[in-house]
Amino acid sequence: MARQARFLTETFGGYRQAEPPPPEDRLVRVGPGTLGGEYLRRFWHPVAQSAMLKGLPVAIRIMGEDLVIFRDKSGRVGLLEAHCSHRGTSLEFGKIEDRGIRCCYHGWQFDIDGAILDTPAEPEGNPYKGKLYQGAYPTVEYKGLVFAYMGPPEKKPPFRKFDVFEKPGLEFGLGEPVGGNLKPCNWLQVMDNVADPVHEAFLHASISGIQFTDVNGRPVEELADKGEDDYWETEVGVLCHVARRVKDAVWVRSMEYVIPNIIQICKMPLLPPPFTNDADEIEMPQLLTRWRVPVDDENTVEFALVYYGAEDDRSYVSAPSVALSTNRGGRTYEEAQRAPGDYDAQVSQGPIARHGREHLGRTDRGVALMRRMVREGIEAVARGEDPKGLFRNGAVAPVYAAETVKRAARGPTPEADREVVRSVSHALYQKSLATRPRTWR
Ligand code: FES
Ligand SMILES: [Fe+2]
Repeated sequence: MARQARFLTETFGGYRQAEPPPPEDRLVRVGPGTLGGEYLRRFWHPVAQSAMLKGLPVAIRIMGEDLVIFRDKSGRVGLLEAHCSHRGTSLEFGKIEDRGIRCCYHGWQFDIDGAILDTPAEPEGNPYKGKLYQGAYPTVEYKGLVFAYMGPPEKKPPFRKFDVFEKPGLEFGLGEPVGGNLKPCNWLQVMDNVADPVHEAFLHASISGIQFTDVNGRPVEELADKGEDDYWETEVGVLCHVARRVKDAVWVRSMEYVIPNIIQICKMPLLPPPFTNDADEIEMPQLLTRWRVPVDDENTVEFALVYYGAEDDRSYVSAPSVALSTNRGGRTYEEAQRAPGDYDAQVSQGPIARHGREHLGRTDRGVALMRRMVREGIEAVARGEDPKGLFRNGAVAPVYAAETVKRAARGPTPEADREVVRSVSHALYQKSLATRPRTWR
């Protein structure tokens, strides 16, 4: 028999395994001119932390484009094509000026919008100064991150804010340092993890057999049950719930996939916090928004904002830091094998995960829904339309995440108790809908 089987149906059948089909290009290719790249370029993305912009320009690579980002001496952020439009030297070696940056090689000076301000070795009246432009992208600084829009100028949407950022009295921090958040794999497989709350019960708890608490400090026994998972399409993406029985309560973890490359989560509580007096429901305060931005087809950089109200009880909230799961964090290969995290699970799927080798199951409903939304967005852009999740009126978009522990008497049988767990989860979903304005676009 030829080596052509896709689903093996015999023991010791490795020889029959067919090479999986190539990746679905439109989903995973991000460079200029690709379908997926054009889709992603319709949104604002974080490309740097403000704190990175000190006295020197910084070379970055975003969606397959080599760029240089800097803050000029007037305090403005510039994001320029890395290669100087004279003869291609990288502007990462340039000199920051009051206006823009000057190339080290022959002194051409570029403003943050790309305007050529000076060509000192060329005669006056040359065809470049004041007439041509270096490639440049617009930026917005927000809460310590620098966002860029890299799509067609005439399609540029207003900078997209989320309602959770705009509540009064919030304190913001950066979730993780940039240097620790590079993953050598395609952006989409990092995003798959978002719509897959079930992996927590395995990757972050029981499977290694040596973790007494998971990476967020939660006791493993609270995670050991994979829980009831549910997924609902929302105006901005997919709301994912996983609900578990914890003693006399049900713990519901709600997180949202936000189109196209964002996760909204409520992060790192040590569970379960004590119920106080007559309270029968506790909601955790700390929120985190994390973006997964393609560096190129085979690398991804993560940026995060973490925030909470000044009044929030932080006694069970850990400080924002690099969690074990977000990178190899200096661990040896053997340490990673003994206590694998998200980094290991995602990166080992390959530089670009092959969907053709997958066998999706019931608990992959969120992943399938998320990929469908990305495909639909790509198709909308290809038709010349705005993709879902992009809005033009400047309104603040509603996003949602929560960790809720709600008292709920145990059902008389395991099946009845699963129904109790599920109904608590569904009731919280209904409640969350009430927090979302219906016409925000
Ligand atoms: S290569 Fe930049 S000024 Fe010549
Ligand atoms: Fe994870």
